[in-house]
Amino acid sequence: MKFIPPANSTQTTLLAYSSVRDYVDVLKSISLHAGYDTPETCLNLVTDGALVGEILRAKDELVSSRLKYVIVIGIGGSALGTKAVYDALRPSSGFATGSVTPEILFLTTSHPGKLEEVRRILESLQPDEFILCLISKSGTTLETISNFEALARYPSVRSALAARLVVISDDNSQLFRESRAKKYRTFAIPRPVGGRYSVFSAVGLVPLAFAGFNIEALTAGARGVFHSFCLTEGVENNMSLVSAAVAHDQYKKGARVFDLFVFSPELESLGKWNRQLIAESLGKQIVKGETRSPIGMTPTVSVATDDLHSVAQLYLANPCDRYETFLSVAHSVRDANRSESAETVFLADKSLGRTAFEDITPAIKSAVISAFVQNGNAVSEIIFERIDEVELGAFMQFRMIETMILGKLLGVNAFDQPNIETYKKETRKILGL
Ligand code: PA5
Repeated sequence: MKFIPPANSTQTTLLAYSSVRDYVDVLKSISLHAGYDTPETCLNLVTDGALVGEILRAKDELVSSRLKYVIVIGIGGSALGTKAVYDALRPSSGFATGSVTPEILFLTTSHPGKLEEVRRILESLQPDEFILCLISKSGTTLETISNFEALARYPSVRSALAARLVVISDDNSQLFRESRAKKYRTFAIPRPVGGRYSVFSAVGLVPLAFAGFNIEALTAGARGVFHSFCLTEGVENNMSLVSAAVAHDQYKKGARVFDLFVFSPELESLGKWNRQLIAESLGKQIVKGETRSPIGMTPTVSVATDDLHSVAQLYLANPCDRYETFLSVAHSVRDANRSESAETVFLADKSLGRTAFEDITPAIKSAVISAFVQNGNAVSEIIFERIDEVELGAFMQFRMIETMILGKLLGVNAFDQPNIETYKKETRKILGL
């Protein structure tokens, strides 16, 4: 993975670094000891060999060639990271290669239609053809628990729970304790690790491993980024630091929309994972006495090239309020059937006969970047070598470190989400719970 900041960002980085030097040292020191005692130690998940070992042992026991579905019941940080990796890799593992791998189905929001769809699938299966992963850090999220309970009302699902349910939660939650008492298989999420920083805990690794993805490569990719963050000499070469500094600088200059423009549709869910990370971590209020000052940028995801024909006009017409990051992939599948100078059907674009199909999107990307730069926008680029577990793991760890630093630069707590408690309490009141 390569990160290319806007030109002339060195000064910006040095300035930002001088104000968060101590915090950067704290993050770096995390790699020196294993274990979890602060929210930031989620960065250590990727060196937790014991966790990967435990997951692979469970996989040996539960997964056979008969496995067809892994059902993830969870929402927000308990599902978005898994979905990001799954949606990014599924086309190449399943459709393109023709290999049959288990499908992951996500039960996130409370949706009767989706629940019914999953129920029907489960009722058509033998127990060894599915695994249910019930994932909730708190163990109390209404959508998650109600999805699970509604599913478990069906006799065929209920009777399979002892063998096919895996519960992933904070070991201090009532859900975890009850699951243990009922002898369900459990994985603990380390207490200090928050939902949106938990993709490399059992939250993401368990369903991904069960569905056949290479979790060792995923964590290896993340480890590479963490090591280079800790070891890179010269702050101006430190990707997460530079990225946080540039983002902060853009925020100070008035950018309030931070868009990730993905140039591969299968990365849209990765964009949504990134969106949650930024929004929940950095969208806060700083309260001083009676005064509440809102802080935060609105993260968005745009998918090329479709969204160029939808929202780009607006983006380019209002350059001042946005900071664009383009995410693309260096190597795409080549068109094996292309002959050199094929004749086109229509004459209007006959030079397309000499153009390789796979060169179209990169050309559009370069042109779009130029348009934004000419428009006065600061533009960053992230380029994956290819879409695989290593690159996805690297991107996620890079973004988590960046978000932590950005939180410090903005003066907010990047690990809580106090403002959403109000609606949660109100919902329970309405339902009489
Ligand atoms: O990042 C977060 O903390 C949230 O998005 C949570 O992941 C989300 O609300 C789900 O919470 P839980 O895992 O407790 O069910």
